[in-house]
Amino acid sequence: MGSEDILILGIESSCDETAAAVVKNGREILSDVIASQADFHEKYGGVVPEIASRMHVDAVYPCIDSALKEAGVVLDDIDAVAVTYGPGLVGALLVGLSAAKGLCAVTGKPLIGVNHLHGHICANYLCFPELEPEYLCLCVSGGNTQIVHVKSYTSLKVLGRTRDDAAGEAIDKIARVIGLGYPGGPKMDKAGQGGNVNAYSFPKNHMGDTLDFSFSGIKTGALNLINQARQKDETIDIRDFAASYQQHIANLLLDHTLRASDQTGIKKICLAGGVSANSFLRSAFDKASAEHGLKLYYPDLRLCTDNAAMIASAGYYEYNNGRRDDLSLNAMPSLRLESRDA
Ligand code: KG4
Repeated sequence: MGSEDILILGIESSCDETAAAVVKNGREILSDVIASQADFHEKYGGVVPEIASRMHVDAVYPCIDSALKEAGVVLDDIDAVAVTYGPGLVGALLVGLSAAKGLCAVTGKPLIGVNHLHGHICANYLCFPELEPEYLCLCVSGGNTQIVHVKSYTSLKVLGRTRDDAAGEAIDKIARVIGLGYPGGPKMDKAGQGGNVNAYSFPKNHMGDTLDFSFSGIKTGALNLINQARQKDETIDIRDFAASYQQHIANLLLDHTLRASDQTGIKKICLAGGVSANSFLRSAFDKASAEHGLKLYYPDLRLCTDNAAMIASAGYYEYNNGRRDDLSLNAMPSLRLESRDA
């Protein structure tokens, strides 16, 4: 380790993964530990917030210990502790935040609060050493869908966001209704492989010329289609239905991103967040990037979903930008991306 190297310990607990990681200079993962609760929440068909908080309490310090050990460092070697403080489930966020504050109180290390969505964007820096701002990022997760103009490592402007459901939520909900269970996203993706993407039609997004999204009408359209088929005793072809539904959502996300690219003249595009693991979305963007001369980036599958390495990366850039939080930093369940913009 060189003397100018900056090591950040990242901590993430915004939903149902407890995670800790050590990242060097914002780009190099030295360790990346994740304790997932997904199997546990599966029997309830979704994340139970109270259970998530309790499980984070059990997992947070073992995750931090493992992350330090795997990186071959001790706490003293760390330059700052970066932690997700929003958006997310408040009880879940508080666990990671309290652990981070405890470490900073004892060691005197700087505390850096990180917006979870900024973390998702930074997952791309861990996969692509050459990637630098500026670019557009389509940030699609279970709770958020937005198109972000990444002007610099820490200056972000939201060009369009969902006015109701997130894309991930729209996929998860329909996956549950057609019996695929939880977590819906990956199961829907698998179910639709090889299906006819034109077999079923869904409502369009009616948001005029804005870059904002709406997924609730699309979700309701899918629910109506399922209910009507059930009433008429008709069977839905799950493979074709899953393929058509995901393709419809992927096309919508692509259409808005292409418009954002036209409006800004920016041809460098990143995908980020759990839904960027979706193969229909990736293929739609792969195809369009060749046709429209875009330079496209999306993270490795493992870094698309929640992890602490991305939080450590975002923490590194915030640290370099001078951000320091004190121990009064609180969890902000509805934190917006732009509230970090200086
Ligand atoms: O980013 P993330 O792990 O958590 C949030 O910050 O929300 O995203 C979770 C979302 C869920 O909606 C999940 O179903 C979806 O990402 N997801 C996927 C896939 N893997 C995760 N959606 C579609 N295809 C996948 N392969």
